[in-house]
Amino acid sequence: MKQSTDFLKMKESKEKIVMLTAYDYPSAKQAEQAGVDVILVGDSLGMVVLGYDSTVPVTMEDMIHHTKAVKRGAKNTFIVVDMPFLSYHLSGRDTILNAGRLIQETGAHAVKLEGADEVIDQIAALTKAGIPVCGHLGLTPQSVGVLGGYKVQGKDAKDAMKLLQDAKKCEEAGAFAIVLECVPKQLAEEVAKNVTIPIIGIGAGVDVDGQVLVYHDILGYGVERVPKFVKQYYSLNPFIIESIQSYVKEVKSEQFPEDKHSYTMKERELSGLYG
Ligand code: KIV
Ligand code: NA
Repeated sequence: MKQSTDFLKMKESKEKIVMLTAYDYPSAKQAEQAGVDVILVGDSLGMVVLGYDSTVPVTMEDMIHHTKAVKRGAKNTFIVVDMPFLSYHLSGRDTILNAGRLIQETGAHAVKLEGADEVIDQIAALTKAGIPVCGHLGLTPQSVGVLGGYKVQGKDAKDAMKLLQDAKKCEEAGAFAIVLECVPKQLAEEVAKNVTIPIIGIGAGVDVDGQVLVYHDILGYGVERVPKFVKQYYSLNPFIIESIQSYVKEVKSEQFPEDKHSYTMKERELSGLYG
């Protein structure tokens, strides 16, 4: 299994880092079998698994519950867990206690939190406490209310400069990697060149140190619309719905179950049944 420091070596040797989200036992097991380098238990679970329309309602309990299942499915993969909305903003003490629970109670290896400015001190505090931290810059979905929607970030020179500085600050605070979401590819390349820690892109072009996508998005599973930056490697939805439709039809028409799905008892025992 990889350690947080191995990702630095992967960047140095220009081996791309593959991160994928997982939220439960089967998805984690599949991700591990398929050879992803890092599993992210993203708070995107609020949207793709729990049906909320943002990541804001996701709680500590939700993250812990799902991460435990992920861990059972992927015992040999490095697992990063998202710190949910407001779980790292109140104080250093609260942040460490919350991150401690996310790691200790689940067996995950690192936490991820969004932003720079007000959370740089928290990244430093967690790192000092021995908890590896992954940053998250660019589009930070927990701040969707302030950002005014899910939009490309860092498009003008001022925002781009701030992003470069923020990445540097995350690195200095001790983050072992940064997820960079939804920024122009030229800017993402520049960020990746300016820090020694790996930049894992999502909607950030190819010139970064790795990529992350959401499990349900790449498989076309449950989700209806996906952002431009997603590549759908399959479209599971129609297959699932058709299969369930067949089941409904066959139960109604008594085509299911057949003899091969049924248990039988001997004639002799059957007559015994009636005395
Ligand atoms: O919650 C999530 O899945 C994420 C990734 C999209 C980076 O934060
Ligand atoms: Na997230």
